[in-house]
Amino acid sequence: MTAPVLRPAASADVDALAQLHARSFPAEPWERGALARLLVLPKMHARLAESGRFPAGFILALVVGGEAEILTLCVDPGLRRRGLARALLADLYAAARAIQSARVVLEVAADNAIGRALYAAEGFAAIGRRPFYYRRPDAPAVDALILARPLA
Ligand SMILES: CC(C)(COP(=O)(O)OP(=O)(O)OC[C@H]1O[C@@H](n2cnc3c(N)ncnc32)[C@H](O)[C@@H]1OP(=O)(O)O)[C@@H](O)C(=O)NCCC(=O)NCCS
Repeated sequence: MTAPVLRPAASADVDALAQLHARSFPAEPWERGALARLLVLPKMHARLAESGRFPAGFILALVVGGEAEILTLCVDPGLRRRGLARALLADLYAAARAIQSARVVLEVAADNAIGRALYAAEGFAAIGRRPFYYRRPDAPAVDALILARPLA
């Protein structure tokens, strides 16, 4: 596969981001308005991956205080296992390193086996757990695992 094209995500991309998020997290899609508010935060790292000029995936991370916190990362279900998440993460590491961030942190649902596989492959390790953090409509709440990866 050719290298994915990454570019900053802007307010004009909010519909594409909302669609990608809903397709990736059908049980808990983020509203368009919430995404729009996140996109304009000053320390927000927002990157869109495009495949053939179509939105294929995105990452939102707050890069602040020596740490980058991933808020969400998703790739269109039809375009997975092509290295897009890896490319979005590599781009985040570079941006965070450029302002001397020491590590990347995130929360992932304990039952998200694919997300956990991605982050394990990327060198993240568990540093904490928030019990019953993610509510599920017809099932018990699920713990959040807090993962971190040094950037040095
Ligand atoms: C998790 C997600 C972002 C991965 O996106 P992706 O573009 O398919 O990931 P990549 O192709 O870059 O995969 C990188 C590595 O992650 C791991 N991985 C990714 N998908 C996997 C799967 N289905 N099963 C096992 N390992 C997987 C592998 O180690 C993979 O490397 P490899 O393909 O060389 O084996 C995507 O599946 C997604 O959007 N899921 C729903 C949203 C989500 O759970 N986001 C993460 C929590 S915030």
